[in-house]
Amino acid sequence: MLRPASRDSIHEAAQILRRGGLVAFPTETVYGLGADALQPAAVRRIFEAKGRPSTNPLIVHLATLRDVPRVALLTPQQEQWLIQLQPFMPGPLTVVLPKHPSVPDETSAGQRTIALRIPDHLVAQSLLEMAQIPIAAPSANPSTYVSPTRAEHVEATLGDKIDLVLDGGPCTVGIESTIVLLTEQVPRLLRPGAVTLEQLQHVLGEVRYTALNEAAPTTPGSSVLHYSPRTPVAFRDDVDDDWLPERVGLIAFQARGYEHDLFPYTAFVALSEHGDLEQVARRLFDALRSMDAMGLDMILVDRCEEQGMGLAIMDRLRRAVGRPKR
Ligand code: TXA
Ligand code: MG
Repeated sequence: MLRPASRDSIHEAAQILRRGGLVAFPTETVYGLGADALQPAAVRRIFEAKGRPSTNPLIVHLATLRDVPRVALLTPQQEQWLIQLQPFMPGPLTVVLPKHPSVPDETSAGQRTIALRIPDHLVAQSLLEMAQIPIAAPSANPSTYVSPTRAEHVEATLGDKIDLVLDGGPCTVGIESTIVLLTEQVPRLLRPGAVTLEQLQHVLGEVRYTALNEAAPTTPGSSVLHYSPRTPVAFRDDVDDDWLPERVGLIAFQARGYEHDLFPYTAFVALSEHGDLEQVARRLFDALRSMDAMGLDMILVDRCEEQGMGLAIMDRLRRAVGRPKR
């Protein structure tokens, strides 16, 4: 059931979570599929609803940094890193830390570490405060499909498996949080996002990162099956215009330059007027889902420079294209 987020519906959602149910809720990044992170049976329902392999751990959402010691065990070095990361928490940043024994193995998928995030979104924050529990929440999409940035996306693909979907409008960031691993000698970026590698390096100093296009096939998170629409996706500059199939959609990053000649595209969307990458990220997944529903033979996408937000956008697009460049 889909309901607009309000004091009443968020209160109901909090009750559902406490009873072991499933609630989809908006965050600033994407919609999450939440359950009580401390109830193994509730967490197992997340994996079932998504068709997610039980080996893929979940992110635990907390109301404030003060809740971190409830779910993670910190060394002085890790405490220091968290202090340095405070400007981004709350925000689109997930940190991976040693797991507290109170968190069930279901939530961490058997890992000895736990991923944590403090969402910067009014609805998510109210839900966390009313429920008074840590909420485990992956993106609210069937496993391997594109993450949802609107409540309707969740309702369309998982609606019948969720007790309540809170509608808080479109997500403002639009791609999943940055993930940084804090359990090695040097922090390591696992998934680029709106908190950029440059911003992390500015506050933490050295930060390691192996880009998807350079990663060995066995590196966790480098699975090429992530985030892909059913329709084949390709970078526009990788295909020969003379050999295009019949029905092609183009997702361009900027509207400028396309005023006239749209041949040979069946569908066209420009994500931003002038190629602003925040705007591109915000609208990208919605565009992929819309084009995927059109029965096209192929979806073409633009590329951007891999710095700042561009690193995260290219990471998601390489996964959608499914053939990382080596
Ligand atoms: O923006 C987001 O992070 C959204 C919203 C709902 O918060 N959540 C999200 O969750 O994207 P999910 O499950 O779709 O992606 C979580 C990623 C997965 O790739 C998972 O493998 C990784 O985080 N992860 C979770 N726990 C981990 C851990 N202990 N060590 C390494 N990676 C971990
Ligand atoms: Mg996901």
